[in-house]
Amino acid sequence: MTRKKVTIAELQKKKQSSEKITMVTAYDYPTARLVDEAGIDTILVGDSLGMVVLGYDSTVPVTMDEMIHHCKAVTRGAKHSFIIGGMRFISYHRIGEKAIENDGRFIKEAGCDCVKLEGGTEMAHVVNAIVNAGIPVCAHIGLTPQTATKLSGFKVQGKDAESAKALIQSAKDLEDAGAFMIVMECIPDSLAARITKELTILTIGIGAGKDCDGQVLVYHDLVGLFERFTPKFVKQYINLSPQIKEALIQYKEEVENGTFPAPEHCFAMNPEEAKKI
Ligand code: KIV
Repeated sequence: MTRKKVTIAELQKKKQSSEKITMVTAYDYPTARLVDEAGIDTILVGDSLGMVVLGYDSTVPVTMDEMIHHCKAVTRGAKHSFIIGGMRFISYHRIGEKAIENDGRFIKEAGCDCVKLEGGTEMAHVVNAIVNAGIPVCAHIGLTPQTATKLSGFKVQGKDAESAKALIQSAKDLEDAGAFMIVMECIPDSLAARITKELTILTIGIGAGKDCDGQVLVYHDLVGLFERFTPKFVKQYINLSPQIKEALIQYKEEVENGTFPAPEHCFAMNPEEAKKI
């Protein structure tokens, strides 16, 4: 059966029939192809690329042009998965032409299907303005890496009743503002389960337990390509870094000792032609 492009309506159907939604990040063409071919529903081109691909210490320095550049590579590689472009820090905070123009770049220039932005109740009016401009929005609450300093670091959010109530309120306000999906990062599983039950829109968890409508992981964490640190909520399905390093060491040795390239990697010339040189 030929696979069709995933739509918001199909994702919504999954929630209704209690089928889980899958999401993985990707930042380049070959990874997008692999994720797409694996049948993953949605690809997030998140600004986590700042840390796992560009080597920054946080997601904050990522520029709008960097995001667009990587989104374009992903949309060239993935033809079926639903693609979410992560808005970079401060690019969406003032509603107005500039914010809408920035969002529009993800759709018009990079070919993404929607945008994601971080923040709760305080961002609901921005979500509403973007949705009214015709751009679907995925929100992001809980641990929001762009404002981790304000949250006193990369910590679990919503652990006490007051902050849990604020997160429930944020989720409802974002739903009312028109978001079709909310990523919930690093919150207690019981709180994520409650929010998922109370919302009609989709919830995607990362460090938020198994009762969300779906799950997301950062590709480099999932396949063992990010060695700086591994959050507790990550499951590493394969550890590629040592295998890639081993291949590189072997290549270096073979070039140095002359066993690569072997005859099968070389192009022969007709000896008669060679004589004429
Ligand atoms: O930007 C991102 O990649 C994210 C994931 C950590 C979910 O928000």
